[in-house]
Amino acid sequence: MRYRIEPYEPRHFGPALELMTKTRRRRRQACPALPPGLDDASTSRRILEGGISGSVAVTPKGGVAGFLFAERIEDPLWGNSVIAGVDRCTLPPGAGTAALAGLYAASFAPKTTAAPVHKVYCPAYDGAMLRNWFGLGFGMEQVYAWSPLAEMERDFATEGMAIRRAKKGDEDTLAGLSPLIALSQAEAPVWAGAPPTYLAGLREGFRELAADKRGYALLAFRGRKALGYQAWLPVAANPIDGPAEGAIELSVAGTVPDERGTGVGRALTSRGVVEALSRGYSVCFTDWRSANFLSSSFWTARGFRPYLYRLARRFDPAAVPTFHA
Ligand SMILES: CC(C)(COP(=O)(O)OP(=O)(O)OC[C@H]1O[C@@H](n2cnc3c(N)ncnc32)[C@H](O)[C@@H]1OP(=O)(O)O)[C@@H](O)C(=O)NCCC(=O)NCCS
Repeated sequence: MRYRIEPYEPRHFGPALELMTKTRRRRRQACPALPPGLDDASTSRRILEGGISGSVAVTPKGGVAGFLFAERIEDPLWGNSVIAGVDRCTLPPGAGTAALAGLYAASFAPKTTAAPVHKVYCPAYDGAMLRNWFGLGFGMEQVYAWSPLAEMERDFATEGMAIRRAKKGDEDTLAGLSPLIALSQAEAPVWAGAPPTYLAGLREGFRELAADKRGYALLAFRGRKALGYQAWLPVAANPIDGPAEGAIELSVAGTVPDERGTGVGRALTSRGVVEALSRGYSVCFTDWRSANFLSSSFWTARGFRPYLYRLARRFDPAAVPTFHA
């Protein structure tokens, strides 16, 4: 089917509301651990009334079949970006790349000057949409995943390794472990930056984990040598959809380079799951850079399944000067 692409206007509100409500419910069907607020049609109404802009795909008979809403973000770490957030894009199955290309051009172009990065969120259940974004030059950047805790390993231990909760007095140990993720991801094949100010902020944040009462940090030792850590924190309520019930987040994890592949991470995860279940949690969320093959393979093997992807497209400064004006 050929769609007519039109700027989003108040007259599209009704059908857009229906489509967004359907999309959000579909996302929670695929991942029931997400906040029940996703099922609430009044939230879609609030999102649409909140000053969004973009475009709609209209069928030959005049029905609204899809939309794409985008906003411009001035981010000190990421740079200037145009972003289509979660639930801001939908098209019928089989709509094809051309329809998405039309929406993408119409919604992103007006916001793109001096914004050389485009980002979109795509639900993991929508494989066709994902392929269409890839067809438009996007690549996968971040994977958001979940797992029921009851389905995760709880009894993996390695001889000679002790795991315990971090406590007051562990500040220096935690600070020493704090750069593990950033330094690993600064290397190939992720090539994410690790600026000194970012690393300094991490050090301070990690020191505070020792006395953090919201969740728990775990440390693994062999003798006095710290081998790795994990921090498990309650999931903050989503500003729009509210809290996810019974959900904890495996927020950060790292093993010192010379101990990777010896069972440290697996033992920490196993212990973290036991602790989370004893505290009444039932599901766990985590996320990772898809190009970080250490974490991509590790978390998948621990049972985490993707529910959402963040995709990114970056423009060559020489080829497209307008993006850098
Ligand atoms: C990702 C990371 C935390 C994994 O920790 P790790 O201590 O290397 O993990 P483990 O040694 O427990 O597991 C690695 C693999 O070795 C296997 N393994 C290790 N020891 C084993 C043993 N004694 N018996 C069986 N399997 C073993 C594990 O099963 C696992 O394979 P699988 O994932 O296919 O099951 C670690 O690679 C790391 O610190 N990476 C850099 C920082 C980072 O990326 N952190 C995550 C950010 S999201």
